[in-house]
Amino acid sequence: MPRAHITLDRQAVVAPVRRRTFGSFVEHLGRSVYTGLYEPGHPTANEDGFRMDVVDLVRELGATTVRYPGGNFVSGFRWEDSVGPRERRPVRRDLAWRSLESNQVGLDEFARWLKLTDSELMLAVNVATRGILPALDLLEYANHPSGTTLSDQRVANGTPQPHDVRMWCLGNEMDGPWQTGFMTADDYGKLAARTAAAMKRADKDLELVVCGSSGSAMPTFGDWERTVLEHSYEHVDYVSCHAYYQEQDGDLGSFLASATDMDYFIDTVVATADHVGHKKRSRKRIDVSFDEWNVWYLKEHQESEKVHEEWRHAPRLLEDTYTVADAVVVGNLLMTLLRRSDRVTSASLAQLVNVIAPIMTEPGGPAWRQTTFHPFSITSRLASGEVIRPVIDSPVYETARYGEACLVDAVATVDEDRAAVFLVNRDVRETAQVTIDVRSLGSARVTEALTLADEDVYAKNTLAEQDRVTPAANKSAALVDGLLTIDLPPTSWTALALR
Ligand code: AHR
Repeated sequence: MPRAHITLDRQAVVAPVRRRTFGSFVEHLGRSVYTGLYEPGHPTANEDGFRMDVVDLVRELGATTVRYPGGNFVSGFRWEDSVGPRERRPVRRDLAWRSLESNQVGLDEFARWLKLTDSELMLAVNVATRGILPALDLLEYANHPSGTTLSDQRVANGTPQPHDVRMWCLGNEMDGPWQTGFMTADDYGKLAARTAAAMKRADKDLELVVCGSSGSAMPTFGDWERTVLEHSYEHVDYVSCHAYYQEQDGDLGSFLASATDMDYFIDTVVATADHVGHKKRSRKRIDVSFDEWNVWYLKEHQESEKVHEEWRHAPRLLEDTYTVADAVVVGNLLMTLLRRSDRVTSASLAQLVNVIAPIMTEPGGPAWRQTTFHPFSITSRLASGEVIRPVIDSPVYETARYGEACLVDAVATVDEDRAAVFLVNRDVRETAQVTIDVRSLGSARVTEALTLADEDVYAKNTLAEQDRVTPAANKSAALVDGLLTIDLPPTSWTALALR
C-alpha cells in the first residue's frame, strides 16, 4: 500500500482564499441559458422565467462569479439586441455555435438571475468584431447611474440601480482561428490596450482581463502573452488562461495528473507576464484569470461535429456526462487553483448548466448534479481564510503525457477556528495511506471527512440515475495527538474539515 506523509505549517501561507476562485461561466451556447437556467413554463420557474430548481443547485455549488455571455459567442454578439422590450429583440444567427439566438435573456435579466444565486457578474465585451465604442456604450449602459441616454435606457428597461460590473473580459480566445474576428497578437494587443485605456478613462477601478492563449498547446503560446502584454500591460489587470483536459487512449494515469499541467501552464504565464513587467520597469503585477477550465471531451466533440443544415434554437451541444475519474480531476484542478492563489486570483469553471457543466436539466423535468458538482461545491463551502502550502512526501509514478507525478496531492486552508484539507489519490489500483501532521494548526477534531470514489471509476450520474455517484463519509479518518491518518481509495478525491 503506498504511504504518503503531509506536513501542514500554519506559517506557510500562500495567499488569502480568493472567493473568485470559485467562479463559473454561462455562455449563450446550446442549452446553457434556454431550458438550462431559463425556462418559462417550467413548474419551478419564477416570474422572470428562471428555473428555481437550478438556482438552488447553483447556490449549493457555491459559484461566486459568473462569466457571461461567452465564450466564442461573444465575438458575434451585439449587446444592444439583448436589452429593452423582449418582443422587439431580434433573432440572430450565432456563427460560433451555428445556432439561433432569440435574445430573450440579456444583460438585465441575467443580472437579476445573478442576484438569486448571490454571485458576481464578470462581463465579456466583443472587441473582435465591434470595437471600442460599443464597449464604452455597454459600460455606460451597465454601470452609469443615470442621466445619460444609455443609462436612462437601462432605468427605463426596469433596472434603476447600475449593475456596477467590476470585472470585464476584453474579448475571448482572440488567438484561435475558430474565433469570429480572430487576430494576430500584435493587432489584438494594440486593440486591447486602446479599449482598456478608454474603459478606464470612464472608471479607473475596473478590473480588465486581456486574452491570453486559448490553450498551452497553441503554436503561439508564450509569444502571444508576451506580445499582447507588451502593448497592454499598463492598462489591464489580468491575463486569461484556458485549459480543458480529457482522458485519451485509455491512459487514466496521465489524465489523473492533469493538474500538474495546469501548474506548469500557470508558471509559464506568470513568468511571461513578470518578464514583460520587469522589462517595462513596472511596479505593477498582472494576475491570472483562469477563466475557462474543466474536463471536456473535446476530441470526441470535434470528431463527431457535423455541420447541421438547420439553424436551431438551443440545440443539445457539448452535453458531456462526467465520470468519477472526471470528478477527481476537477477536484484536483481546483486544488491547484487554490494553491496558486498568490497569482491566480480569479477563475471560472467552464461551464455551469448543461454545457460541459456540473448541473444538468431536462426541459420540463428535473435538474441534477453531475459527479463534478461535488468536489467543487464542497471545496467552495469548506475553503476559507488563508491557503497554506503543504509539504508532501508522496511516492511518484510515471505518466506518458506529463512525466513524473505524485500519487498523492494536497492543499489546505486555515481560518481562525477551522481548517480544511483537500486530497487526491491518483493511484488507479491501490488505496493510499496518508498521515497528516496538523500540530501547527492546533486542530482538535475532524468534523467532516468526505471521499468521492467508486469501484467503477467510469460511473456517472444521469437522468435515470441522478445520484449514482455522491461523496461518502470516510470512516478511516482519525486524529490523535496532532497526527491525522486517513485511507484514500484508488482514484479518489477527499475533503477534511477540522475544528
Ligand atoms: O467553453 C466552451 C468554449 O470553449 C468557449 O466558448 C470558448 O471560449 C472555448 O473554446
